[in-house]
Amino acid sequence: MAAAILITGANRGLGFEFASQYLADGWRVFAACRNPDAASKLRCLAQDMLNVVAMDVTDAESVRNATTQLKDVAIDVLINSAGLPARCSRPGATAGPGRASPNACQMPKV
Ligand SMILES: NC(=O)c1ccc[n+]([C@@H]2O[C@H](COP(=O)([O-])OP(=O)(O)OC[C@H]3O[C@@H](n4cnc5c(N)ncnc54)[C@H](OP(=O)(O)O)[C@@H]3O)[C@@H](O)[C@H]2O)c1
Repeated sequence: MAAAILITGANRGLGFEFASQYLADGWRVFAACRNPDAASKLRCLAQDMLNVVAMDVTDAESVRNATTQLKDVAIDVLINSAGLPARCSRPGATAGPGRASPNACQMPKV
């Protein structure tokens, strides 16, 4: 039986890339996202080994519903990719010069 992976935030970004690569490697992929109906990139991957699951990781009821849906599934690996790219909110932080990401930041030298 194929190994199974649950990936949150799987509709775009890193989560989507993990989903497509694990599918390509023959895994059964449970791709969780907040709004499966709007997950057009995931739908393009549609194949037997892909199951799209609704899950907002900040909503306990949504997580409970997803776990109920998956209660009979043995998940081998979890990639919790749901989240926002890091933004630096620490006092005194400044945008990092020369960094590739607009979200990158650095603390001033002391
Ligand atoms: N990209 C990098 O180089 C990098 C490096 C280190 C760490 N990370 C971390 O890895 C994570 C993913 O990064 P990314 O670049 O792939 O970000 P991204 O392209 O902005 O994708 C974020 C994903 O998380 C989902 N998401 C956000 N809030 C959610 C919630 N409450 N419930 C369920 N899904 C939620 C988004 O879904 P929606 O479409 O519904 O918004 C989207 O699928 C982030 O936590 C980021 O900080 C990224």
